[in-house]
Amino acid sequence: MITHDVLIIGAGLSGLRAAVGTSHTFDTAVLTKVHPVRSHSIAAQGGMNAALANVEGSKDDTTEKHTFDTIKGSDYLADQSAARVMCEQAPLLVYELEHMGCPWSRLDDGKIAQRPFGGAGYPRCCYAADRSGHMVLHTLYEKSVELGVKVYEEWLALSLAVDGDRVHGVVAMEMATGKLEIISAKVVVLATGGYGRIFSRSSNALICTGSGIALAYEAGVPVEDMEFVQFHPTTLYGTNILMSEGARGEGGYLVNNKGERFMEKYAPSAMELAPRDIVARSIQTEVNEGRGFNDEYVHLDLRHLGREKIIERLPGIREIALDFAHIDPIDEPVPVQPGQHYSMGGIDTDVHGATRVKGLYAAGECACVSVHGANRLGGNSLLDTTVFGKLAGEAIVKYLESGVEPPKQTVLAAELKKQEEVVQEICSRESTGETVGAILTEMRDVIFKKCGVFRQRGLLEEALAKIKELQERYQRVSIQNSTSRRYNPGLMNVLELRGMLDMAELIVAGAIPREECRGSHWRLDFPGRDDKNWLKHTMAVYSPDGPVFSYTDVEITDYEPKERKY
Ligand code: FUM
Repeated sequence: MITHDVLIIGAGLSGLRAAVGTSHTFDTAVLTKVHPVRSHSIAAQGGMNAALANVEGSKDDTTEKHTFDTIKGSDYLADQSAARVMCEQAPLLVYELEHMGCPWSRLDDGKIAQRPFGGAGYPRCCYAADRSGHMVLHTLYEKSVELGVKVYEEWLALSLAVDGDRVHGVVAMEMATGKLEIISAKVVVLATGGYGRIFSRSSNALICTGSGIALAYEAGVPVEDMEFVQFHPTTLYGTNILMSEGARGEGGYLVNNKGERFMEKYAPSAMELAPRDIVARSIQTEVNEGRGFNDEYVHLDLRHLGREKIIERLPGIREIALDFAHIDPIDEPVPVQPGQHYSMGGIDTDVHGATRVKGLYAAGECACVSVHGANRLGGNSLLDTTVFGKLAGEAIVKYLESGVEPPKQTVLAAELKKQEEVVQEICSRESTGETVGAILTEMRDVIFKKCGVFRQRGLLEEALAKIKELQERYQRVSIQNSTSRRYNPGLMNVLELRGMLDMAELIVAGAIPREECRGSHWRLDFPGRDDKNWLKHTMAVYSPDGPVFSYTDVEITDYEPKERKY
């Protein structure tokens, strides 16, 4: 049996930042489905917000203003003291990464460069060209190697061993052998990112299946605000690869088929740099009302920025547009449309990453602290991962130093037996013609079309009925190769699909009762935000018959909810 003090599931930014914090003092391992630098954090482009006040036009910026922008951007669903913690930590984290060697882009005076981003009152987003996630992830990975963090690469966590209110470790599959192993740990950290790939149009990597949220949910841990799903306004038409908000931050325009910069109608002062929920709805409205191109997309026009600026500041998105759409943004506008990008909801945690289960922590996109509320601001995601990865690491060290009993072997052995039976049962199924591919495609299609940028009761109910049908069909899914477990992607896909269906159900079932418009949750049948009835968080707990919902208060400390205008 493998044993560590701390086992972190997921090797993106939050997981590695937590590992950097605990590995000085405690034996720390990271378990990941892919090599750490293939984690989805690598795809983050635009940057990381911090009120450094480095650039012209940002001299009056403060962490207080960052806090306010974050709360207003969240449509007042963020817990305000948590948002404050994140924004106050931001400068420290940016400098800390700098000291670890992160190659942030620089101003002529040598200071870290910052660009405007959506919903922000000042140019506040620190960046490394448009490859910010790449640079930060490599920085943290190198640091974790230096600190000797053990990595289990190409391993899939199947379940948490939880007994009463304490975690004892996990059961995981080594993909190369298909062998199930117990990993005993006093602390388990879920840092598995989002669930983007349950949607047909998503900017997320194929590995973003929501697996960590599913592990926690199935172990009885409450999940929060799952109906709030971010649609990034500008994903590349055809593949939905991200076309960074940084492109609009650098001055890019959004243009409809009449040649109009249509954001003037929707957000006359912020224009293209309104928060994402507003820009995504504006684009979708233009397309739905016949002012898009091919009834599918609008144009992101960068031509006026000029060759030099595009090559210096936006080399990554130019390369993506060239490689995937054969379009050079220097010469032609880029076709863009909204695509799923981020999960505001997730595993309910406090600012230290602690969940309701002792020893179980969560950080990054899979967690809901809640700092993003109903809509996350661009540039606050890299920030969230590193801040809450760091704070979780610090809290874990204190927790372990307080003296924690060794994990219970009986609990771990029972969990291993249970998971062996699950895998055995799947491998022994006769072919019924029901496949993972069919269920995935139908789930992705229905949730994007019926629980997307615009929502209404009838469509949401149809989506829920379809998801329930897919959950029932899931019981009959068989795999082609059931004789060998070695690198058996069919088996791993079946194992992950159950959790993906859980995520889909949580999102849709949470969206039905919320009869209001707030941030990313836009109900055509219930116009307007309803603070009287819906200024509250949605909590969901697993039951075999589906999620059981309850509601908790939003923490309002400094800023009373107001109408959002941009
Ligand atoms: O548009 C972007 O570069 C994405 C940034 C983010 O999600 O924070």
